[in-house]
Amino acid sequence: MPMHGPSAIAILTLSAGIALAQDSVDPAMMEQGAALYAQHCQICHKPEGQGTASVFPPLAGSENLADADYVVTNIHNGVVTMPPFPWLSDVEVAALANYVRNSFGNTYGGVTEAGVAATRADLEPVGQVRSIWDGVYTQEQADRGRAVFNSPCGLCHGSRLNGAPDDQDMRPAPPLARANFLRVWNGRSLGALLSYSRMTMPQSNPGFLPEEDYLAIIAHMLATTGVPPGTTPLSLDIQELGRIRIGPKP
Ligand code: HEC
Ligand code: HEC
Repeated sequence: MPMHGPSAIAILTLSAGIALAQDSVDPAMMEQGAALYAQHCQICHKPEGQGTASVFPPLAGSENLADADYVVTNIHNGVVTMPPFPWLSDVEVAALANYVRNSFGNTYGGVTEAGVAATRADLEPVGQVRSIWDGVYTQEQADRGRAVFNSPCGLCHGSRLNGAPDDQDMRPAPPLARANFLRVWNGRSLGALLSYSRMTMPQSNPGFLPEEDYLAIIAHMLATTGVPPGTTPLSLDIQELGRIRIGPKP
């Protein structure tokens, strides 16, 4: 890997002794990492890695990110309320690790694909990845979601889930169903959707509903989108929800 001037030398010095670090940061990895960050991480950690006070921790300035193993493990397994991303490839995880460790003012040095593969060899394997179109919720769950949605969520997102608020005094909110919703959430998981919803919604009182109601509301969002139900209900297991990906009808 060629050196790129004084900043690369500084990074080399900083990263000495860190298991996964390499001497310089690959610009192509940074570019790929930026795109993946925008798709998967930014909704919670925010564009400048600043997070949201007391909800989503800042990545900017976090000394924990000096430990590349820690970053890779967090992405693969998730952590507490952060959803896991086990289906990302080694090179995608490496790109993300490069990006968050060397953006927002952080300068912790590069991470290689081989280094990520070595770290992940010790972690739980990815398991079965499913799509929302594989019959992942039950009709009963969606019915319950329909019954609880309107007052805490419809106020802003609309009882038709189209983003036109039921309460005329409210500002429009993003649609929570159909093509526009699928386009925005394409590639993300139901784990990310549940975590984000529980931790931020409804805006005035995040997390006040029982967990099962958030799950039922997600089933209602899928049903309204035209995604068919199955025979097994969605479970609150974040690892399992993290393996169910949102995407267009196959
Ligand atoms: C749904 C919201 C959400 C999404 C999406 C998300 N995170 Fe997180 N992240 C969190 C939360 C919440 C924590 C803190 C968890 C805890 O320790 O309680 C966290 C913690 C972290 C940490 C540890 C920070 C520290 O200072 O110790 C890293 C690193 C991280 N996230 C990276 C990522 C990356 C990279 C992505 C995208 C692949 C991502 N996160 C996506 C919510 C999210
Ligand atoms: C007071 C108005 C309000 C209420 C009530 C509300 N939301 Fe929201 N919601 C918003 C706004 C505004 C956004 C856009 C957030 C932003 O850009 O920071 C949003 C964003 C979202 C998103 C992300 C959509 C996207 O495409 O980015 C989800 C999912 C969501 N809300 C779910 C819910 C659920 C579930 C409830 C009920 C438990 C709820 N919201 C209640 C105003 C509200």
